[in-house]
Amino acid sequence: MQILSVRGGAPLRGSIPVSGAKNSVLPILAACAVCRGVSVLHNCPDISDVGDTLEILRCLGCRAEKRGGALIVDARTLCGWQVPAQYAGRLRSSVLFLGALLAHMGRARIALPGGCPLGKRPIDLHILALQALGAQVAVGQHFAECRAETLHGGRIRLPFASVGATENAILAALGCEGTTVIENAAREPEIGDLIRFLRAAGAQIGECGGEITIQGGAPLHGTTYTVMPDRIETATYLCAAAACGGDVTLRMTDGRTLLPVLDVLRASGCEITQSGDTLRLCGDGSLRAPGAIETAPYPGFPTDAQAIVMAALLRERGRTEFTETIFENRFRHIAELRKFGAAVTFSGRRAQLDGVAALHGANVRAEDLRGGAALVIAALCADGESRIAGVKHILRGYDTLAGKLQILGGDIKYVEIPEEMLYNTL
Ligand code: UD1
Repeated sequence: MQILSVRGGAPLRGSIPVSGAKNSVLPILAACAVCRGVSVLHNCPDISDVGDTLEILRCLGCRAEKRGGALIVDARTLCGWQVPAQYAGRLRSSVLFLGALLAHMGRARIALPGGCPLGKRPIDLHILALQALGAQVAVGQHFAECRAETLHGGRIRLPFASVGATENAILAALGCEGTTVIENAAREPEIGDLIRFLRAAGAQIGECGGEITIQGGAPLHGTTYTVMPDRIETATYLCAAAACGGDVTLRMTDGRTLLPVLDVLRASGCEITQSGDTLRLCGDGSLRAPGAIETAPYPGFPTDAQAIVMAALLRERGRTEFTETIFENRFRHIAELRKFGAAVTFSGRRAQLDGVAALHGANVRAEDLRGGAALVIAALCADGESRIAGVKHILRGYDTLAGKLQILGGDIKYVEIPEEMLYNTL
């Protein structure tokens, strides 16, 4: 079994590139299934969620391969309409093949999606959107199936600005005759990236303040596209540098998509400067409490950055309250953070962090992707050695995590240990 071994306490210094955004490339790969041509995607992260999505495309009959740093998807041979549990169960974004296959084939059946265990993750809003476009939808215990003789454009009002439901609605609307309007659409930057990809492939999509208009029916061709930088990966390395102290420059990124996180890090005492596509953070590792943090849909504070910012602040002077408004159970990392000596408690959707003077090394287990990244940050600023199990969750979303931290001087490496040894230590 692979674990991460981390020896903490050293400041981080140096410069690393940020990879393409996981939450962009996954919907864009689903969108490739709507195109009747070859798509070439640049700046794609090398992460297991991408590997699993390529498998889904292959099992649908597409040619999907990595060539150098690019992904190539040829959807001209797409002939399947079913996504098996073997792949769908591993990632949440597999649900986007409902809309994509409905648009391309008029029919889709997917095993219900997996992803991080963050509480209930229903797909009722996805279904509401597809039904509004004329699809008949059946949901069983383990699958969702939809079909439509003809899809027609329609007006979809999402009761909550769900990221995935917005993306599914866009993809399905491409197969509709006529115009579709999505009201109260999510505004996350990754949705903008999906729309830019689709426009490059020939789609007519308008976007204005939470309303998205899609002119359906026109066949899409393949295109060449460069995926936007990952704002949560950016936040992760900034938080690691803030927690450990040092001077870190991130290249190929975009701070404009991350303003609430930059505000928090600045308020806690870090100096952050932006120049072109680089972000530089300087700090001495001694942080003050930045004020209450509440997650919210974009442009609010991202739920995906909640755990990593919490980890950065564990040694702050003072107290920080966190409120998680997006997911019902997104504090699973707290029990593990406490093993480092952190003083964090939570009840329901609120958590309270009281900074401690020092953290010590610990043996911990990642239970989800961003919670896992939070454990890495805590381990990097703790005194002594830590071991982190559950590495597969982290590999879902971070390209070369240990390698990039090593460039910054972090003492972190993958180690193989027998499974029983892990159970003895955890
Ligand atoms: C996406 C991101 C994830 C991020 C989240 C919120 C991807 C692959 N994942 O997830 O990293 O944390 O946005 O920014 O892009 N909900 C319903 N019914 C639905 C759909 C969602 O009740 O049909 C609820 C969810 O349970 C959750 C909330 O809405 O509580 C937000 O979910 P949503 O915005 O859909 O997030 P995802 O698309 O799953």
